[in-house]
Amino acid sequence: MSFAAHETTAAALAWLFLLLDRHQPVRRRLDAEIDRELGNRLPTPADLPRLPSTEAVVKETLRLYPPLWYLERTVDLPTELAGYPLRPGTRVAVSPFVIHRDPRFYDRPMEFLPDHWWPWSPWSSPQQPTPGATNCARLPAHAPRSAHAPSCSHAD
Ligand code: HEM
Repeated sequence: MSFAAHETTAAALAWLFLLLDRHQPVRRRLDAEIDRELGNRLPTPADLPRLPSTEAVVKETLRLYPPLWYLERTVDLPTELAGYPLRPGTRVAVSPFVIHRDPRFYDRPMEFLPDHWWPWSPWSSPQQPTPGATNCARLPAHAPRSAHAPSCSHAD
């Protein structure tokens, strides 16, 4: 277990830091949130609700580069999945990597857009772009995500 836990976490962090390096506006927003909310101290679980940009960056990293990109199960009992009959012994695979990049579920699925995870974002699922987009970077990062905030278009 510890091997799997280390490898998945290490892969996720490696992708996260690479993405942050390539998307400096996102990085600046993250830095600002961490400086404001944490200063120089280490985070605790109690801080998580006040770190929405951090949460969005982690989720967006896991969406684009899921460390476990392919999962498999073996059917035990006869069953049916999406109309397909499955016999015992059949192997069923699912790829989070492919699902996460499916344009039916995410707008601009190939892009690193942490705003996918903000409810008022035009990029958040389900696909219902809201007119009157503003730049997310101008919104206070601590704005409640349930608020009727303007939608955001992300320049990066
Ligand atoms: C970014 C980090 C991680 C990712 C993306 C991740 C992802 C996953 C996924 C997709 C599974 C399901 C695999 C399957 O059912 O085929 C899984 C199972 C599991 N993970 Fe992680 N994991 C992460 C970190 C960790 C950590 C830090 C721990 C422990 C400290 C951990 C412990 C486990 C355990 C025990 C299971 C098996 C659960 C079960 O089937 O009963 N994982 N993980």
